[in-house]
Parts: sequence; structure tokens; C-alpha cells
Amino acid sequence: MFKRLMIILLLVCLGPMAAYAASWTLNTWARSGGGTIVVRGGTPQTSANGSVFKSYTTSQAFTVTVNPNTGYIVSQVNYNNVITTSPTQTSYTVQGPTAQLVYANFSPLPLTVTASVSIPGGSVSPTSLTGIIYGAKLTTARTFTFTPSPATYNVASITGVPAGATVSTALPAAVNTPVTVTLPVGFTFTSDIALYGTFSGPPIAKTGTPQVVIPGTPTTLDGSSSIGAISSYTWTQTAGPGFPLTRVIADNTPGATVTFTPTVVGTYTFKLTVTGGSTATTTVNVTDSYVEVARAQCYNCHSAAGIGVTSNVFGNWSTSGHKSKAVMCAKCHVGADTGGHPSLITGGSVSESTFDFAPTHGTGNFCVTCHAPTIITEFAASKHSIVAGTASCSFCHVSGVHNPSADCTNCHKAGNTLGLPWPPTGYTFHSSFTDGSVCKMCHTLHNPKVLSFGGSCK
Ligand code: HEC
Ligand code: HEC
Ligand code: HEC
Ligand code: HEC
Ligand code: HEC
Ligand code: HEC
Repeated sequence: MFKRLMIILLLVCLGPMAAYAASWTLNTWARSGGGTIVVRGGTPQTSANGSVFKSYTTSQAFTVTVNPNTGYIVSQVNYNNVITTSPTQTSYTVQGPTAQLVYANFSPLPLTVTASVSIPGGSVSPTSLTGIIYGAKLTTARTFTFTPSPATYNVASITGVPAGATVSTALPAAVNTPVTVTLPVGFTFTSDIALYGTFSGPPIAKTGTPQVVIPGTPTTLDGSSSIGAISSYTWTQTAGPGFPLTRVIADNTPGATVTFTPTVVGTYTFKLTVTGGSTATTTVNVTDSYVEVARAQCYNCHSAAGIGVTSNVFGNWSTSGHKSKAVMCAKCHVGADTGGHPSLITGGSVSESTFDFAPTHGTGNFCVTCHAPTIITEFAASKHSIVAGTASCSFCHVSGVHNPSADCTNCHKAGNTLGLPWPPTGYTFHSSFTDGSVCKMCHTLHNPKVLSFGGSCK
């Protein structure tokens, strides 16, 4: 009897206490249209429900899901005061006893609307619409115009036209007739749109831009940008030094590309004929003005685009010993002239102090990819390497890679700022040497203590 009373008492006392301890609130809020919040698998809440508070007594964890409607994404979630933008998570666990909150914002999916063409043969305008989102409705019609060019071409097909859009004419269209695709007023965007036009017409020969090269350069005539279904290409020279007695290619040489190596300076012209009879001409100007060649191949375009202008790349190169020895830009920037532009050698890929490759671009010294590797060991063994310190090669090669000349008499001359005796103490015969180019007749350039005539002075 007493035992039973105790149990009842216990229940009476503990009951309300336990209920009080486990009561907690969950605050959920779909803060924009475009999606719902579902608590514990219940009825979806929309923005119309506003901020919803609900009390729970369970100590079990349960799930709140954030569900964007079709065409929408979750743009932001506030989960217990931690705000995440564009979250990938859609399911959030809530659990008492502390208050919990889950807020979600939704936004319409951005859609891409593009128009492109198979080139060559024509163009399309505009090539895109920007700022289009799911559900957007047009208040003014939008038109894409596909225009054949050259005039002998027509619009053959347009794919990707969405339901509701109108095409101005049946395809394939007549020759030289623009075709429009119109999205009318009221058109509603519900998915990406990618219009794609193709053109057709008779083959047209194309020969690319005129070329300027130095004698002895393998030179390629390239007709591969010709338009249309082409089964034959034939090349004929039409002018050049000694023409017609001397020709660099035989008449009617076949092939989309033809390579020859001109050795005689002058202007050569060529004619390309393709299937159907269309022709085009091109010129190759062969000159021994290395500067003119570098201008045509690299500099004219770079200077227009502001490339290497502040560092005076072209000015340095064109006054360097490399220029006079025909070490053209593409000899170092391998491939820059044949489609491998800008080449592996770009700004900072070689140190301007040590002329060593930057670690991500190679190993060792860049200069000795062409010059004698002994330069490095000789220099390391020289007293110069000690005084040069971290300046290293740039101690003497002051203008960097694009003008790598150096001159001993920048330092070894009368009245030099370094206080070096001139002529060197004990070797007064040097007083007659004022031209730096004579030093290497007797001294090894990169370790001048070693005399280049083998130490014998007879
Ligand atoms: C039709 C224009 C054009 C021509 C011709 C051209 N370039 Fe360029 N070059 C550019 C442009 C634009 C850039 C910058 C964008 C890039 O890196 O592609 C550039 C970048 C470079 C760079 C990298 C610059 C940097 O700051 O790292 C190198 C090196 C280069 N070009 C070398 C050459 C050489 C060598 C030639 C000639 C054989 C040449 N280019 C011909 C337009 C041109
Ligand atoms: C002896 C080899 C050599 C020759 C010849 C050479 N370059 Fe360079 N160039 C380099 C090296 C190495 C670098 C990377 C080091 C640097 O950033 O200065 C470089 C960097 C560049 C850069 C990017 C750095 C900058 O200052 O803008 C451009 C652009 C460039 N060269 C263009 C040219 C052009 C154009 C020519 C011909 C007129 C040329 N180079 C000739 C070796 C050469
Ligand atoms: C792509 C190959 C190549 C690279 C790389 C190269 N050179 Fe040269 N260099 C040459 C050639 C070829 C000559 C002409 C040699 C001759 O005629 O004896 C030359 C000549 C020279 C000359 C003498 C110029 C003259 O007036 O006779 C100097 C100085 C020179 N290079 C320094 C350098 C330095 C410094 C580097 C590294 C920053 C370098 N070179 C990188 C190919 C290169
Ligand atoms: C003490 C001055 C000095 C230092 C330091 C120096 N050089 Fe030279 N270097 C010269 C002189 C002078 C020439 C000849 C220049 C000319 O003919 O225009 C030369 C020529 C060259 C040549 C052309 C090849 C040749 O034998 O004529 C290369 C390549 C070269 N140096 C690379 C380097 C490298 C790489 C370093 C650093 C490891 C370096 N030099 C450090 C003075 C120096
Ligand atoms: C940038 C200035 C500079 C240039 C350029 C320069 N030197 Fe020197 N040279 C020095 C200095 C500084 C010393 C003194 C080093 C010492 O005593 O520790 C020196 C020392 C020497 C010595 C005596 C030290 C030895 O190695 O035994 C010779 C020989 C020499 N230079 C020859 C040349 C020749 C040849 C050239 C051109 C290839 C040249 N120098 C270019 C600054 C220069
Ligand atoms: C006709 C050959 C010849 C020519 C050219 C020449 N030298 Fe020398 N130079 C020598 C000889 C030999 C020595 C003494 C070397 C020795 O005893 O180790 C010497 C010594 C020197 C020394 C002193 C080295 C020391 O140990 O103190 C310097 C510095 C020097 N030359 C710089 C130059 C410079 C700079 C040039 C170019 C302007 C030049 N030399 C041209 C042959 C020549």
C-alpha cells in the first residue's frame, strides 16, 4: 500500500518536471517564393506561412528539408544562425532542448540562351541573351538573325529552336537570305536555349595572311581555312625572284598545305585553286632584315596589344647580338610562330638574374640550351661569381634575356666606380685595350683568370 502511494507520488512530481525540461521551439521560415520547407515530413510551408514557431517535447532528433521548386535553387539557408549561401545540403537535423531555427531563401535558376554557327559560311547576331532566369517572360520579342556570308551561301539548318519560337522561312533557305528565329512577346523561359546554325554553299579558296620570313626558313602555304566541301587543292607560283625560269614550287602542286624553303630574297606570290574553281592568292616576302621579319611575325601584333611594351622586349632584342645573328623570337619562344603561341617561355619562366629556368618551367640554365654548358661551371669557378652574388649573370648581362650582351669594359676601365685598377696592377700592357670585344682573345669570358690561349703568352 505504502509502496503504491510512493509510486503515485513520484509520478505526480516527476511528470510535469520531465515535460518542462523537454519543451523546445523550432522556428522555420520560407523567406521567399520558389520553394518550401517541410518539417518532419509534414505539410510543406511556403512563404505565405511566414515565420512559423512550433513547440516540441520530444528529445529525438528529426529532419527539416528545404525543397526548391522546379527551376529554382536554394540561394541561402540560415541553420541555427549559421548562414550558408548556395548550400548543397537540403536536409537539416534539429534537436532540443535548445531552440532551433531553419530559414531558407530560394532564387530562380539562371538560364543560358546562346546562338552560334558552324563557321565558315555565315554568322549570327546576337550570340546570347544575358540575365535570363527560369520563368522569365518576354515583354518585347527577341530576334536572332542568321546571315550567310559569302553571298553564295545559304542557311542550311538551325537546331535548338524551342517550342513557341518562329523561324522566318523554311530551311534550307534560299542563297544569300538571312533567316530569323524570333522568341515572341509572352515567351517564357523554362530551360537553356542553344540555337545552332549551319550554312552551305560552293567551296571558296582561302590562303591565310601574307608571310614575312628570313632566307632559309621552311615556309608553309596553308589553304586549310578554305570553306566548303573541298576534295582538291592546287598551288601555283605566279611571281618571285627569277620567275618564271626559277620556281620554288612546281605548277599545280597538290595539297591543303605546301612547304618550301626560299633562299633568295624577294617577294613571291602564289595562287590556290580549290574544287569548283575558286581561287585565292597570297604572298611570301623573303627578307634579310631580321627586324622587319620580327616585326611582321610578332611585334606589330604585340605592340598593338601592349604585350612586352613596358619591358621593351622588341627594342632590346633588335639591338642585341642575337638579332644580328638571326636568333629570331621563335628560336627561343619555340612554336610561337606555328600555333604553339605564346610558347612555353613566357614572362617569368626564366630568371632575369641567373638565366635559370623557374622551377615550374624546367631545370638548369636557359642560355645553355643553345650555348656551351661550360659557361656555367666556368662562371662558378670565377672570382666574378663571388662579387656578383645573387645578381649572378645579370652582374654583367645587365639588359636581361632580350639583350644579353655584356661588356668587360663596363667595369674594367680607367676611372671605374668599383675602384678596380686600370690597367690591372702589373699588367700595364692593358692600357691600350679600350674595346671590350678584345678581352676574350686572351681571357676565358666566364672565368677570365684562365687565359683562353692556354696560358702561354708567346
Ligand atoms: C596576332 C597577334 C600576335 C602575334 C602575331 C604574336 N603574338 Fe604573342 N601574344 C599576343 C597576345 C594577345 C598575347 C597575350 C595573351 C596570350 O598570352 O596569349 C601574347 C603573349 C605572348 C607571350 C607571353 C607574354 C607574357 O607576358 O607572358 C609570348 C612569349 C609571346 N606572345 C611570344 C610571341 C612570339 C615569339 C611571336 C612571334 C613568333 C608572337 N608572340 C606573335 C598576340 C600575338
Ligand atoms: C634568347 C632567347 C629569346 C629571344 C631571341 C626572344 N626571347 Fe622573349 N623571352 C625569352 C625568355 C627566356 C623570356 C622569359 C624571361 C622574361 O620574362 O624576361 C622571354 C619573355 C618574353 C615575353 C614576356 C615577358 C615580357 O617582358 O613581356 C615576351 C612578350 C617576349 N619574350 C617576346 C619576344 C619577342 C617578340 C621576341 C622577338 C622580338 C623575343 N621575345 C625574343 C627569351 C627570348
Ligand atoms: C635559341 C638558341 C639560343 C639561346 C636560348 C640563347 N642564345 Fe645566345 N646566341 C645564339 C646564337 C645562334 C648566337 C650566335 C652565335 C655565333 O654566331 O657564334 C648567339 C650569340 C650570343 C651572344 C653573342 C652575340 C654577338 O654579338 O656575337 C651573346 C652575348 C649571347 N648569345 C648570350 C646569350 C645569353 C646570355 C642567353 C641566355 C639569356 C642566350 N644567349 C640564349 C643562340 C641562343
Ligand atoms: C663578369 C661578367 C659576366 C658575367 C657575370 C656573366 N657573363 Fe656571360 N658574357 C660576358 C661577356 C663579356 C660576354 C661576351 C658578350 C658579347 O660578345 O656581346 C658573355 C657572353 C655570354 C654568352 C654568349 C656565349 C659566348 O660564349 O660568347 C652566354 C650564353 C653567356 N654569357 C651566359 C652567361 C650566363 C648564363 C651567366 C651566369 C651564369 C653569365 N653569362 C655571367 C660576361 C659575363
Ligand atoms: C660588373 C662589373 C664587372 C664586369 C662587367 C667585369 N668584371 Fe672583372 N672584375 C670585377 C670585379 C669587382 C673584380 C674584382 C674581384 C675580386 O677581386 O674579388 C673583377 C676581377 C677580374 C679579374 C681578376 C679576378 C680573377 O678572376 O682572377 C679578371 C681577370 C677580370 N675581372 C676580367 C674580366 C673580364 C675579362 C671581363 C669581361 C668578360 C670582366 N672582368 C667583366 C668586375 C667586373
Ligand atoms: C693580349 C692578351 C690580353 C688581352 C687582349 C687582355 N688581357 Fe687581361 N690579362 C692578360 C694576361 C696575360 C694577364 C695576366 C694573367 C695572369 O698572370 O694570370 C691579364 C690580366 C688581367 C687582369 C688582372 C688579373 C689579376 O689577377 O689581377 C685583368 C683585370 C684583366 N686582365 C682584364 C682584361 C680586360 C677587361 C680586357 C679587355 C679590355 C683584357 N684583360 C684584355 C692578357 C690579356
